[in-house]
Amino acid sequence: MAKKEKLSVEPYKGVRDFYPEDQAFLNYILATMREVVERFGYAEYHASILEPAELYKGKGVENEEIINDQSYTFLDRGGREVTLRPEMTPTVARMVAGKRRELGFPLRLYSIPNVFRYERPQRGRLREHWQLNVDLFGSNAAAADAEVIAVAYSVMIAFGAKESDFTIKLGSRNFTDSLITKIGLDGAQAAKFRRLLDQRGKIPENKFMEDLATLGVALEMLSPEKPPKDVAEVLSILTDEMGIGNAVFDPGVIRGFNYYTGVVFEVFDTHPDNSRAMFGGGRYENLTALFDEEQVPGVGFGMGDVTIRDFLAVRGLVPPYTPRTRVYLAAASATSVSAALALAGELRAEGIAVAVDFGEKKLGDQIKAAAKHKIPYVIVVGPDEIAKGTYVARNLETGGEAVLTKEALSEFFLNL
Ligand code: HAM
Repeated sequence: MAKKEKLSVEPYKGVRDFYPEDQAFLNYILATMREVVERFGYAEYHASILEPAELYKGKGVENEEIINDQSYTFLDRGGREVTLRPEMTPTVARMVAGKRRELGFPLRLYSIPNVFRYERPQRGRLREHWQLNVDLFGSNAAAADAEVIAVAYSVMIAFGAKESDFTIKLGSRNFTDSLITKIGLDGAQAAKFRRLLDQRGKIPENKFMEDLATLGVALEMLSPEKPPKDVAEVLSILTDEMGIGNAVFDPGVIRGFNYYTGVVFEVFDTHPDNSRAMFGGGRYENLTALFDEEQVPGVGFGMGDVTIRDFLAVRGLVPPYTPRTRVYLAAASATSVSAALALAGELRAEGIAVAVDFGEKKLGDQIKAAAKHKIPYVIVVGPDEIAKGTYVARNLETGGEAVLTKEALSEFFLNL
């Protein structure tokens, strides 16, 4: 009989499986983000992965590349066009517009959604990622821009980064727009110019210079001596009041989305093996106007888990994996299993995470399984232990042993 073709164990192209160690690392990333943004007074919100496709096609939200080439859009059974969200900003703008009268402003919101983009998978780019979104609505103050940038900075510091590990580059849509007016570029040329600025560093520098020349823009015009007023204001708050030493003006920072209207920023990794934009954001004044008569200004950023992983990996900042399970109960023989189950129940009632072996394999193999799971301790439950009421907790990494009465066990594991 012909052997039946097996299904692939690989996940869909560009997305990831999270085995327990990967999931623990992701959880660490999400918990670190959460802790920092909540310290700044941001409240969590959530929404569905599914959005009507028109949300991204609407005027203002439109980002040609993301919508035409990178969206996962399909027809549902009712013939409606649905998109797996490629970003969170249109969603949060919709939610803010939807309850504008009930919500208090300034409004500080955060979420860590899973987002989807049909991109060519490469280092730092996948088709699915988790993205921290931090957004502040209802303020025009430069201090609001500075605050979200300070949140981004503090997230980096919480991951163990030093100031020299990253640079926060601030650009200005106002500056680019005034340049466009000054040079006299028409609509199509202006779009080309913005795209070109956004691509600088991603395309060869001579190609950049060539395209710049074609548009009739001199390189000097891109590097004014002083930052424009909006950037200067934010920079001075960051530097003088918040003590942030790695924020600079960079007229080349422009960002891909059309909805940005003011100061925009990107955080760059300074490591030579990883020198790229890690994440970014900016001010957008008009997005809620898509849904509502009155517009609420917003400023925020999105930070993905993929680029921060690379950042942590090249610096040895990835925390070691330890599972939540503290102890594995191995059964010396099939007859000890019920005693092991009972002991596990008692320990769990005390709040200790315990896994139990069902005694189907030799003791050595049971212990090997515990070691593969990286569970720190094993206790062998056998007739002797049951009779005496004392147990030996063996540390699988060091080989060290602690002899404990049943009563002392929970205390021991709770204090690990
Ligand atoms: P974005 O720059 O498109 O901005 O994405 C934000 C961050 O998400 C990126 O800098 C990167 O860390 C991560 N990211 C984006 N695409 C991918 C991908 N294909 N694979 C891995 N990571 C990725 C936005 O999405 C804006 N909505 C952010 C924002 C929020 N602006 C204001 N508020």
